[in-house]
Formats: sequence, structure tokens, C-alpha cells
Amino acid sequence: MMCCGRSLDSPCTLALLVGFQFAFVLYFSLGGFRGLVSVLVHSSEPEFDYSHPHDVYTNLSHLVAQLPHQTGPTGSAPQLKDCLVPSPLLVGPVSVRLTSPPSFEEIKERNPLVKPGGRYRPPDCEPQHHTAIVVPYRNRQTHLRALLYHLHPFLQRQQIHYSIYIVHQSGNSTFNRAKLLNVGVREALKEEDWSCIFLHDVDLLPENDHNTYSCHPQYPTHLSVAMDKFRYRLPYPQYFGGVSAVTPDQYLKMNGFPNQYWGWGGEDDDIAARVRLSGMKIVRPPVAVGHYKMIKHKGDQGNEQNPRRFDLLKRTRINWHSDGLNSLTYELLSKELAPLYTNLSVNIGEDPRQPPRKVTSPNPEKPPHPASKPNKKRAEGAVVGAVTTKATKIEAAQWKSPNGSSVVTEKTAVKQEVG
Ligand SMILES: *[C@@H]1O[C@H](CO)[C@@H](O)[C@H](O)[C@H]1NC(C)=O
Ligand SMILES: *[C@@H]1O[C@H](CO)[C@@H](O)[C@H](O)[C@H]1NC(C)=O
Ligand SMILES: *[C@@H]1O[C@H](CO)[C@@H](O)[C@H](O)[C@H]1NC(C)=O
Ligand SMILES: *[C@@H]1O[C@H](CO)[C@@H](O)[C@H](O)[C@H]1NC(C)=O
Repeated sequence: MMCCGRSLDSPCTLALLVGFQFAFVLYFSLGGFRGLVSVLVHSSEPEFDYSHPHDVYTNLSHLVAQLPHQTGPTGSAPQLKDCLVPSPLLVGPVSVRLTSPPSFEEIKERNPLVKPGGRYRPPDCEPQHHTAIVVPYRNRQTHLRALLYHLHPFLQRQQIHYSIYIVHQSGNSTFNRAKLLNVGVREALKEEDWSCIFLHDVDLLPENDHNTYSCHPQYPTHLSVAMDKFRYRLPYPQYFGGVSAVTPDQYLKMNGFPNQYWGWGGEDDDIAARVRLSGMKIVRPPVAVGHYKMIKHKGDQGNEQNPRRFDLLKRTRINWHSDGLNSLTYELLSKELAPLYTNLSVNIGEDPRQPPRKVTSPNPEKPPHPASKPNKKRAEGAVVGAVTTKATKIEAAQWKSPNGSSVVTEKTAVKQEVG
């Protein structure tokens, strides 16, 4: 009180001014806010040497060798200690085999601990994470084999409890990634109380096993932050495509994913918008950890660019409450426990703009993804405009079957207006 009077020329004011000046100089000489933070919290990015990756099967023989050792007396499950986090089996950068993946049989042989349906639990400790990997899929067997060959050992080294679900879109209609993801999430949660759900493209292979396949407790996670295709950088700040993860709670909060994106593009930006609109944000691992390689390929037939995507994106703010988990309808045609994955074959209906047809013309090259930013190419979306059509939809199975069985509940066909 005595010192800090109101007059400008008091010694205290002067001292304050000098102090502030000093603070500013310090602040900028340390590289602004980031520099300041890194000095204070010591948050230097981890460093990894990607020039000498380990084989993706490193340290797994270790587990198999242990196996007979711990089978307890009949019936009584042995009391296991919690798995250590992070797992002591991790090796960091792993090599990625992009071409000529082994056959399913060979992959199975190399992963003896994987159970039918592509399920796994660490044999020697109690897992801390329970993760369902959901992969939207159609006619990409080579990619699927590459993914399974890579992901099974990758995840086993992380000592998590996981299962891999392939959601196969039956029929010839345009591909609908987001809707397949909705189906996958719903079917996976019927089977098991997963604490985390991964939304995983079939052609992306993680390059660093420190990129843990688990969820952030509060916020949706985007994991493929550094893809080789984008020169190991995030293509744009809101990018949410490739590999991402949500908890069941986060998924409910954002009303799942949109069902109306038929064809390539836009749905990942819609999902990112839902995260924001539902009051959450996207969290990411460090760029040095989130490395992914993409299997190169020509565009797929039946997954042509979606010309409505910019139109749809403009309406996300209005649509996200009514289009999503709460409006999801589909028919589960079959569920097969293949040795390395669970195959959910589903009828998700037809693209209302495009009645079933014979797909013949090859797809044009995929444009670079950032082009799908909504504000850039508004005109393209405007060409098509809103289309109102009738579509036959099939009422889905219940959200959770009462006893958690895999039995498909009754289906009823309903006619519904889609616009
Ligand atoms: C895993 O493999 C790495 C690299 O070969 C090795 O240094 C490490 O000791 C292994 N860890 C375990 C738990 O076997
Ligand atoms: C899909 O297309 C193929 C060949 O173009 C045709 O033989 C098949 O019947 C079609 N399937 C459906 C479900 O329409
Ligand atoms: C999944 O099941 C469907 C229906 O049985 C089948 O047509 C498809 O080939 C299967 N896909 C894979 C990858 O096993
Ligand atoms: C669950 O219910 C279905 C249909 O009522 C039945 O067929 C199945 O055996 C049940 N499964 C379990 C695990 O109880």
C-alpha cells in the first residue's frame, strides 16, 4: 500500500515497468509461448530413429515361450498382476511391410495367441486397456492381410486386450465409411464392454509401438497425425481421418458418426465438427510417435468422390443431432469369427442418389485430402444440391442385446423418407 501509490513516478511503478520489460525480453528470447512452456514443463518431443526400425514381430516369441508355464490348476483362473504401462515389450519404430503380405494361414501361424475373431488378451498379465479395432471394408484383401500381419504383433506388444472387427459393406452401392463405422461400434459393444474403440482405415500401418491403442478418458483421439502420404505432417489442423479413437461415452456424446456420406471424402471432417459441436476437442500423440505408412493404391470402384460432401458439411451444425447413432439402421447379414478377425457383413442400404448399378468406370485419382476443406470448393457441392429420394431402410438390431450374445435380433423393413 505504502509503496504502490497512484502516482506514475513512484519507485514501485518504475520497478514494475522494468520487471515487465525484462519478462517480455525473456519470453521472446525463449521462443514465445512454446519455448516458455517447454522450459517450464520440460516437454521436449520424444525422439525416435526411424532409419533402423525393429521387426514388427520383435519380443513376441518371449510371450509364447512363457505360455505353458502359467496354465493354473483346472478351472481356477490364475490371479494375474496388472500389465505394466507402458509395456516393457515396446521397441519404438517398427518396420512396415507394404507389398506382398503373407497368406492368412501364415499370419495365423505367426500369431499363435490370437483367438478366433481376431481376439487377444495378454497371457501373463491383466490388461489395462480394452480396445475394439473397427475397420470399414470392401474388397481389399491384400490390404487386409498387410494390416493383420502388422497390427496383431504390434498390439500384442502393447499388452492390451483387443479384437479386430472388419465391417464388410455388402452389395454394390457406393461405399459409406462413416456408416460402416457406426455399425462396427454398435456391434462391437454388443459383444464386449470395450473401453475404447478404434476407427481404423484398412490401408494404414502404424510405425511406432509407443503409439498406444488406447483412449483418452475425456476427448476423442486422432492417432494418424504423421502419415508418409502427407510428408509426416498433419495436412490441416482439424484433420481427423485415417486412425482415430473414441470411448463409448465420447461416441454417445457426439451422436456417433454421420450416415449420409456416400463415397469418398468429407465424413472425417464431419466427425471432427461433431467433436467440437458436442463440446469436446481432439487430442493427439506427438508427431514423432504418430507415424503411419499408407499402402499405395488406385482409387476403389464404388468409392467415387462424394459431390455432396461440401453441402453436407455446411449442415453438420444442424444435422448432427438427428443424423448419427440415433438414426442408424442396417441389417447384419452375418458375423463370422475368422481366425484373425471378426467379419461383420452388413447391408447398410443404398446411396439415395445412386441406385444399384454395375460399377464399370475406373475411379479418377484421389485428390490430395486437404482439397476437401469445405470453404474451398463450395461451387462443386452446389451443383448437386439436396436430393430427396425414397429409400428402403432396414430397422437395426437393438443397441445391446439383453444377454450380450451375437444373435441378430428381429429385423423389420421400413420405408422412410431421406432428404
Ligand atoms: C524387446 O526387444 C528389444 C530389442 O531387441 C530388447 O532390447 C528388449 O530387451 C526386449 N524386451 C523384452 C522385455 O524382451
Ligand atoms: C453387384 O454387381 C455384380 C456385377 O456387376 C452383379 O453380378 C451382382 O448381382 C450385384 N449384386 C447386387 C447385390 O446387386
Ligand atoms: C465377410 O463375410 C462376407 C459374407 O459372408 C463375405 O462375402 C466376405 O468375403 C467376408 N470378408 C472377409 C474379408 O472375410
Ligand atoms: C442369448 O439369447 C439368445 C436368444 O434368446 C439365445 O439363443 C442365446 O443362447 C443366449 N446366449 C447366451 C449367452 O445366453
